[in-house]
Amino acid sequence: MIRIYLHPIPIRIWHWINALGFIILIITGIQVRYGNIIKLFSFETAVDIHSWTGFILIANYCIWLFYYLLTFKIKIYFPPITHPIQFTKDSIRQAKFYGYGIFVGDPNPHHPTPDNKFNPMQKISYLMIMASLIPVQIITGLFLWDPKLFSKWINLVGGIQIVDMIHVLLFIFFSAFIVVHFYLATLGHTPLAHIKAMITGYEEEEEEHSH
Ligand code: HEM
Repeated sequence: MIRIYLHPIPIRIWHWINALGFIILIITGIQVRYGNIIKLFSFETAVDIHSWTGFILIANYCIWLFYYLLTFKIKIYFPPITHPIQFTKDSIRQAKFYGYGIFVGDPNPHHPTPDNKFNPMQKISYLMIMASLIPVQIITGLFLWDPKLFSKWINLVGGIQIVDMIHVLLFIFFSAFIVVHFYLATLGHTPLAHIKAMITGYEEEEEEHSH
C-alpha cells in the first residue's frame, strides 16, 4: 500500500461542514415544508436554524470556490473536452464496474492522483452539483429568505411559486444524492477507507497502480 495525498485541508474542512450543514438543512427543511406531518420543533425555530445554516454554507461554499479557483485546480472537475470518445468509454467502464465488476471482485478501473482525482462519473456529477445545482439552491434559498428584497428577481423567474418549486425539487435531488454518495463512499478497499481519506487527506492505493 502507498499513501496518496488527495484531499487538501481547505477541501476537507469545506466538505465536512457542508455534509453536516446539508443534513441540518434537510431536517429543518422538511419541518418548514411538511410541518403538518412531523413536529420536531416549532415552525419559527425550523426557519431560523434553516436560514442560519444556509448562510454558513454559503460562506463555506466560498472556501471551496476560492480554493479551486485560486489554485487553478478547478480543472480536476472538468471532463476532457478534447477527448469526448475516450471520456464516454471511460464513463461506461466505470458504470460497469459499479453495476457489475465490483460484485465479482474486479479492481476499480480508476486510480486517483491529485491531478486526476475523480473518475468520469464523479467528474460529471460533482461538476453539475458544485457549479450549477448548489448555486441555484443558494439563489432560490436567498429569494425565499427575503421575497420582498428580491421581488424584482423573483418576478423575472416567474414568481415565488416557481422559486419554491425549484428549491424543493433540488432538496429532493440532494436528499437522494447523499444516499448514493454515502453508498459510493463506502466502496473503498475497506468500507471506511474513502471516508478516512476525506478526514486525513491520504488515500491508500495498491503499489502497482500508483502512477
Ligand atoms: C453523509 C455525508 C457525506 C459523506 C460520508 C461523504 C463522503 C465523501 C467522501 C469519502 C469523499 C471523497 C471521495 C470522493 O472524492 O468522492 C467525498 C467527496 C466529495 N463530496 Fe461528499 N460526503 C458526504 C456529504 C456530501 C454532501 C452533502 C455533498 C454536496 C452536496 C458532498 C459533495 C462532495 C464533493 C463535491 C466531493 C469531492 C470534493 C473534492 O475532492 O473536491 N458530499 N465525500
